[in-house]
Amino acid sequence: MTTETTTTASVKIPAPATPYQGDIARYWNNEARPVNLRLGDVDGLYHHHYGIGEVDQAALGDPAHSEYEKKLIAELHRLESAQAEVLLDHLGPVGPGDTLVDAGCGRGGSMVMAHRRFGCKVEGVTLSATQADFGNRRARELRIEDHVRSRVCNMLDTPFEKGSIAASWNNESSMYVDLDDLFAEHSRFLRVGGRYVTITGCWNPRYGQPSKWVSQINAHFECNIHSRREYLRAMADNRLVPQAIVDLTPDTLPYWELRATSSLVTGIEEAFIESYRDGSFQYVLIAADRV
Ligand SMILES: C[S@@+](CC[C@H](N)C(=O)[O-])C[C@H]1O[C@@H](n2cnc3c(N)ncnc32)[C@H](O)[C@@H]1O
Repeated sequence: MTTETTTTASVKIPAPATPYQGDIARYWNNEARPVNLRLGDVDGLYHHHYGIGEVDQAALGDPAHSEYEKKLIAELHRLESAQAEVLLDHLGPVGPGDTLVDAGCGRGGSMVMAHRRFGCKVEGVTLSATQADFGNRRARELRIEDHVRSRVCNMLDTPFEKGSIAASWNNESSMYVDLDDLFAEHSRFLRVGGRYVTITGCWNPRYGQPSKWVSQINAHFECNIHSRREYLRAMADNRLVPQAIVDLTPDTLPYWELRATSSLVTGIEEAFIESYRDGSFQYVLIAADRV
């Protein structure tokens, strides 16, 4: 039997499956970092992931200019949206009649982008009631609430019917869960021939063990970064066959180097930059076919 707690008079949310999930729900319920909110304010797409691509120095202009900080925020946001576009590029053919799942959907920026691109339904799950409310409010403001919906739900135990989903993804949310459990659930609700995509940081088995920088990132975000090897093994064990593996590390470094110069630094920038440079940590995209 599922225990339920009531947050408001009308919304019932499931109790966390574990004490750890309770911690993660609290973390994201309380999260209001300017680096996320001010970037989202640029165009109303709110992301909780990092950026990729070359920095447009011409768009940034002179650092001494009074408008520079505003331009820097717009540029970081452009790179974060570019990251989500690359994820969507790997979902394969999606039609307006399809349903997609965003597992660990945050405030829902990627879901809005997916709906705009494919015209399809997008179902998001997050542990955070604050994030789900935020995403649903944005969907109402954009008048797409009949297509884009967020709910508080454990991505390891979703209500989606077996074989009902055309494609699904984790955008920087797979480091909060056991990968076998995660891929078993995606494999269950994806239709055969469907596509799964993740963009994630992972530690590099070639380095040996998680570096001190990776341990810092884990402590900062209360997560558990997996190795590249664990991803591939857990996918293979759950009928997810990699179709593309893209090392995005060189593409994300310019984002971090730019972010480190901004007033919005959170203190974790050095760990990302140093671990990407010393090869202990990688930013990868894996797209897999559900077979
Ligand atoms: C770094 S944020 C990424 C958000 C979003 N994917 C994006 O790109 O903006 C991590 C997200 O994973 C979610 N998450 C972590 N563990 C989860 C779980 N077991 N079930 C559902 N969501 C989970 C958190 O609630 C949060 O929304």
